[in-house]
Amino acid sequence: MKTVKTIKEVRQQVREWKREGLSIGLVPTMGCLHEGHKSLIDTAVKENDRVIVSVFVNPIQFGPNEDFKTYPRDIEHDKKLCESSGASMIFNPEPSEMYFENRSTNVEVEGLTEGLCGAKRPGHFRGVCTVVSKLFNIVTPDRAYFGEKDAQQLAVVKRMVRDLNFDVQVVGCPIIREEDGLAKSSRNTYLSKEERQASLVLNKSLKKAKKLLEDGEKDALLVKRVIEQEINKQPLARIDYIEIADSESLRPVKKADESLLIAIAVFIGKTRLIDNFTFRTGEK
Ligand code: PAF
Repeated sequence: MKTVKTIKEVRQQVREWKREGLSIGLVPTMGCLHEGHKSLIDTAVKENDRVIVSVFVNPIQFGPNEDFKTYPRDIEHDKKLCESSGASMIFNPEPSEMYFENRSTNVEVEGLTEGLCGAKRPGHFRGVCTVVSKLFNIVTPDRAYFGEKDAQQLAVVKRMVRDLNFDVQVVGCPIIREEDGLAKSSRNTYLSKEERQASLVLNKSLKKAKKLLEDGEKDALLVKRVIEQEINKQPLARIDYIEIADSESLRPVKKADESLLIAIAVFIGKTRLIDNFTFRTGEK
């Protein structure tokens, strides 16, 4: 498995593979790969002849007070995980390879990015869509793989692909959890022992909400309140948002009688964690 740092090298390799008629899967990541990423890579390896994993901590999707500088990086670990999972190549560019100093083009998806994480992290999805577009143009994959933990990101990328006619199939993959229910995330490495224990409140509160919905509760505000009360029991937790939204439009709903995305973002100490589930009326 090769690790390359330039766009030219990726394009050369992709051209060769395409000449041989091979299909290509792309798994875009910011590195520090965990079991969640591994499940994306495993799926991509099953569905494509060759798989490229991009490892790039994308500066333009972080806000000025966010964790770009401290975001965990461990390329040697990432290489091992990709190699053992059967990936064919890692693309690990420097920011200067991806962005011209006088760059002036961004990709913006409107509407879907207004609520949830988009409201709390201004400019975040512009940064994500810009880098994902660039990766699609560089790799020209047949399929690209994204985790459902970032439910809004997945919806936004799908919309961008549809609206801009990218010739790529976007594949969403289920959330992978620790044994105790915490959704896997590179940011879990920030948590102290005490915070790690406290972080279980995310999954616990969502489970309560799911049970309510399964039992037929229709009042979305009541379900939100139950999540809020559960999280507020945990002194190390601070709610960033709790949203019950239509899973297509991502607009908040009052009545829980459609296909729903129940999504939360919670600070545990200084670490911001997200989690979600989708729910269809009548589902158990
Ligand atoms: O989900 C992520 O890790 C990032 O947002 C992505 C898709 C790799 C873009 O930088």
